[in-house]
Amino acid sequence: VAVDAQGMRISEAFAGKAPVMLHLTPSHQYPLGGRLSGARRRELAQLVMKHGSLLIENEYDHEFIHEGQNHAPLAASLPGHTVLVSTFAKAISPSLRLGFVAAPLAIAQALAQKIEQERLHVSWPVQCAVQWLLQSGQLQKHLRRVRRYYAQLRSELLLQIAQECPQLRVSGQEGGLHVVLHSNKPAHQTDTLQMMKNLSQQGVIFNNLRDFGGEQDALLLAYGQMTPATVKQTCRLLKMALTVKSA
Ligand SMILES: Cc1ncc(COP(=O)(O)O)c(C=O)c1O
Repeated sequence: VAVDAQGMRISEAFAGKAPVMLHLTPSHQYPLGGRLSGARRRELAQLVMKHGSLLIENEYDHEFIHEGQNHAPLAASLPGHTVLVSTFAKAISPSLRLGFVAAPLAIAQALAQKIEQERLHVSWPVQCAVQWLLQSGQLQKHLRRVRRYYAQLRSELLLQIAQECPQLRVSGQEGGLHVVLHSNKPAHQTDTLQMMKNLSQQGVIFNNLRDFGGEQDALLLAYGQMTPATVKQTCRLLKMALTVKSA
């Protein structure tokens, strides 16, 4: 389903036969960024109630909201119609391989049964450690600290991009831990393509928006694993890749 400045075009999702299930990332659209607006959330709630659709609400990086309005999860207002899936990948580490699901009881029970049958358990000591982090309040403390850290990193990244790469426009920066880099003028689209080619030739691996069905070439830049020093290094590298015409 297409998205615009207000997030998923809900009316398009329900045009024709109403969906049985709808998967969405409302607090930070992946990969474009952007958030589902209050108006779209209300529209979605009405349509879900009317048609009985099930929402898979993927809150994969909801811990980090840097700008704009912070909405409650859809699961809070539509608990009987929503399966909230989330992950500790951003709050703690992707290598933990641990997430959680909050679902209506019947769905939660069916999922638990499936996990049991398929032996899909996450390591028990890992689960116990995260349970302790949650119950002791240490996770909240950690989140307060890393929110400050990522906010500074993000500000530094946006500043460095503006200074070093004025040919680039940043979007999707209002939440999460990645941004999208586009040409800031259609005429510069070729510069972005050349930049990507140059980066590939230097062995820099990145995702292109086009790989996700986007109509334009744009680079996805994740900063969750960066430090202030690697932010600077990355922006210098981007600048170099934009400057060199053919490597
Ligand atoms: C759209 C989306 N869903 C879910 C996840 C979480 O993935 P995992 O918990 O497997 O690392 C991510 C991670 O970045 C993501 O981008």
